[in-house]
Amino acid sequence: MKEKKIEIKMVEVQYDELTDRQRKLVDLARAATDRSYAPYSKFRVGAAIELDNGEIVTGSNQENAAYPSGTCAERTAAFYAHATYPDAKFKAIAIAAIGTDGCEVGDPVAPCGACRQSLLEFETLAKHDVEVILVGSEAIYILPSIKSTLPLAFSEF
Ligand code: THU
Repeated sequence: MKEKKIEIKMVEVQYDELTDRQRKLVDLARAATDRSYAPYSKFRVGAAIELDNGEIVTGSNQENAAYPSGTCAERTAAFYAHATYPDAKFKAIAIAAIGTDGCEVGDPVAPCGACRQSLLEFETLAKHDVEVILVGSEAIYILPSIKSTLPLAFSEF
């Protein structure tokens, strides 16, 4: 028997420690929460994806009366980005959230499992790491890649 360990690396930073590029992405993810449609959960999530063609695409969670038909902010943004710019590679994603109390979450939220798997597909297509920036009012976490959010991910490639 052999024990194996998978480690993930992430850094915790404050807003003023971000680069201008990262700050812009964080600002756009925060702004995207305003366009969330979340009448059921009242939890508003925004995502901003930076592409290698210079575009930044945003998305928000879009809920539905038939609950499972709704979509998370990350997948709204990712699928819109790839549907609009099919040749562009993802470079980074920022994710922000407003809790049910109407205030930004203190601890950042991390993408759900389905979003991690969906985002991984675009990191694989990009052939390089896609930076992940998780935004909260108390802390911002930066992870170097999508795959670091999904250890032992399924992949056919
Ligand atoms: N949600 C996201 O948009 N992204 C996540 O990573 C987790 C959850 C949404 C789904 C639902 O509309 C609301 O947040 C509450 O779960």
